[in-house]
Amino acid sequence: MIKAIIYNSQTGSCKRYAEELSRFLALPAYALGQQPAIKDGEVIYVSWVMAGTVVGYSKVKKQLPVAAVCAVGMAPVTEGSAAFGREKNQVPGSVGYFCLQGGFNINKLPLPMNLIMRLKVKDIAKKLEFKRLKTPLNAQEQATYVMATTGRGEPASWDVSEIVAWVKQH
Ligand SMILES: Cc1cc2nc3c(=O)[nH]c(=O)nc-3n(C[C@H](O)[C@H](O)[C@H](O)COP(=O)(O)O)c2cc1C
Repeated sequence: MIKAIIYNSQTGSCKRYAEELSRFLALPAYALGQQPAIKDGEVIYVSWVMAGTVVGYSKVKKQLPVAAVCAVGMAPVTEGSAAFGREKNQVPGSVGYFCLQGGFNINKLPLPMNLIMRLKVKDIAKKLEFKRLKTPLNAQEQATYVMATTGRGEPASWDVSEIVAWVKQH
């Protein structure tokens, strides 16, 4: 039985998703490291994606029974995102794996990451501009484009309904 939501957030998106899940599932949400001992129950782990890696998952899975992982990134979620993320992060099939688009705020990043992302967003913007020549951007692509060109932005939505439905069947 899922007893809590644990989140690892640098700039607030994972915290917001954890709070959304908490509201819909009536489960407590705790920042990673702030959670009380979780006895006889599982957790949902919500964390941000850094270069494809769900930050903290490899450690957390050794310490807590993780029922599902919510991987939050600024990229648009595509059909292949979950399979790719699951494999990259070695998340077994018995654990739920969900990809969510988060926001971005370059000004809230520590300096080394700020510098990395200053370069990275230029690439992201170029790729989306190229894509836009052929097909209009969808809502998530448009949101990523705003993040990449302005240094900050919100996802297309903060929708957790897929995860809520999964938990109710779990
Ligand atoms: C160094 C760095 C690497 C990132 N790599 C990725 C990535 O590979 N894929 C992705 O979708 N988002 C990537 N992001 C964006 C964050 O995952 C995204 O902004 C997320 O919403 C942050 O969550 P938070 O607000 O809870 O910290 C990266 C961000 C940083 C700072």
